[in-house]
Amino acid sequence: MSLANKNILLGVSGGIAAYKSAELVRELVRAKAQVRVIMTRSAKEFITPLTFQALSGNPVLTDEFEYAEAANGMDHIALARWADVVLIAPASANTLAKLTHGGADDLLSTTCLATKATIALAPAMNQAMWANHATQDNVELLAKRGFVFFGPAAGSQACGDVGEGRMFEPHQLVLSLSNLFNTGELTGINIMVTAGPTREPIDPVRYLSNRSSGRMGYAIAAAAHDAGANVQLITGPVSIAVPEGVECISVSTAQEMFDAVQADIEDKQIFISCAAVADYRPVAKQPEKIKKLHEDLSVKLVRNPDILAEVARHHNKPFVVGFAAETRDLEKYAKQKLERKRLDMIAGNDVSDTSIGFDSPENALEIFWAGGHCSLERDTKTKIARRLIGLIAERYASTDKRSNVTVLKNAKDRSQNTR
Ligand code: PMT
Repeated sequence: MSLANKNILLGVSGGIAAYKSAELVRELVRAKAQVRVIMTRSAKEFITPLTFQALSGNPVLTDEFEYAEAANGMDHIALARWADVVLIAPASANTLAKLTHGGADDLLSTTCLATKATIALAPAMNQAMWANHATQDNVELLAKRGFVFFGPAAGSQACGDVGEGRMFEPHQLVLSLSNLFNTGELTGINIMVTAGPTREPIDPVRYLSNRSSGRMGYAIAAAAHDAGANVQLITGPVSIAVPEGVECISVSTAQEMFDAVQADIEDKQIFISCAAVADYRPVAKQPEKIKKLHEDLSVKLVRNPDILAEVARHHNKPFVVGFAAETRDLEKYAKQKLERKRLDMIAGNDVSDTSIGFDSPENALEIFWAGGHCSLERDTKTKIARRLIGLIAERYASTDKRSNVTVLKNAKDRSQNTR
C-alpha cells in the first residue's frame, strides 16, 4: 500500500531507539509521505532536532511556542487535524503512561489528545519496564481505546538485557503504517472514478470550463485504491499527480469523457462521477481564432451527453455514485438527481461556500441514498474521500447480492493470505 501524500506526524519520545527514527523519516520520505516531527524534551537528549529537520524537510516541533513561530501561529489543533496518522516511535514507558491518563503537558501529548487520526505506538524500553504490570495495564487500556501497537520486538537490548522491548526496525514500521491505510474493504472490486473539469472548445485558443481542480476525484481514486480496489480514473485537464497504483486516462471534452467511460464501464462494479462535466458545449468549434469585430458576440451552446445518467442506464449497471454541486437547496436538488438519474448514492456538495469544494483542499458532503443520509463534515479532501469510500463499500455490500459474494470471497482470500 502506498504512503504517497499521506500526512504522517511522527512523535519521538526519549529513548536510545530515537536514533532509528532518523532512518524511519528517511524511509517515509522515500515513500513520498509528508512527514512532520514532534520531539519531547527528553528525546532531544538522544538526537538533535536538526537531524529530523534535514531529513523531513520540515521544521521540528518541540513545544507550542516554537511550533507557533515555525508555522505562522498554527497550534496543536492544526497539527492534530493535519495528521492522517500519528506514529510515536520510540514510545517510551512514560509516554504510554501519559497517553493512558490523558496528560497534556507538552506538544506531543496535547496533539494526541486533540487528534481524530489513528495513533500508532512503537514502544521501546528495557524488557523489565515493558513487562511491568503498570506498563502492561497501560498497553491494554490504550489498545482498548483504539491505539495501535507496532511491536515491540524481542532481542538483545542497548542496556545488555535480552527480551521484549526493542523498537521495530524502520522498514517494519513503514510496512505496518502502509497496512493501516489498507482497509481492504473493496479488495478486488473494479472502480471507475471521473474527476476534474472538462474543456469545451470555442476556437483553437478558447474554451468553456469550470474551477474544478480534480483534487476531490483524485483523493477518491487514491482512497479506493487504498481500500484494495482496481481503480481506473478518467480525468479532465488538471495539474495534480495521479495517485500511485491508479490507471489513468486523460480526456479534455465531455464527449471524450463520455466515450472513455463507455469504452471501459462494462467490467466495473462501482462508478463514481466526481467530474465537473460541462452541461453544454459550443455548437461548433471555430476553425480560426475569433476576431474582435463586433460589440457583442453570442456563442450558441448544445447539451452534452449526461455521462452519469447513461452509466445508470447501462444494461449491466454498476453501483452508481453521483455528485450534486449546488449553490442552494442542496438536499432537494441532490435527492431529485438521485431519483431522476436512478443512482445508488449521491454526494451533495454545497458550493455556495467558496472556501470548500471547487479548487480547495477541503470539502464537506451530504450523502443521500434511498432511505439514508450521512453528513461528512468539513475536512481535507483526503479524509472526506476515505470516509466516502468507507460508506460506499458499506452500501455496496449491503445492496448488491453479486457484490456480497465478491466481498465475502475476497474476505476469505485475505484471511488465507494472512495465515
Ligand atoms: O475538483 P475539485 O476542485 O476537487 O472540486 C470538487 C467538485 C466540487 C468538482 C466535486 O466535489 C463535485 O461536486 N463534482 C460534481 C460537479 C458537478 O458538475 O455537479 P453537477 O451537479 O453539475 O452534476 C451532477 C452529476 O452529474 C455529477 O456527478 C457529474 O459528474 C455528472 N454529470 C454532469 C453533467 C454531465 N454532462 N455528465 C455527468 O456525468
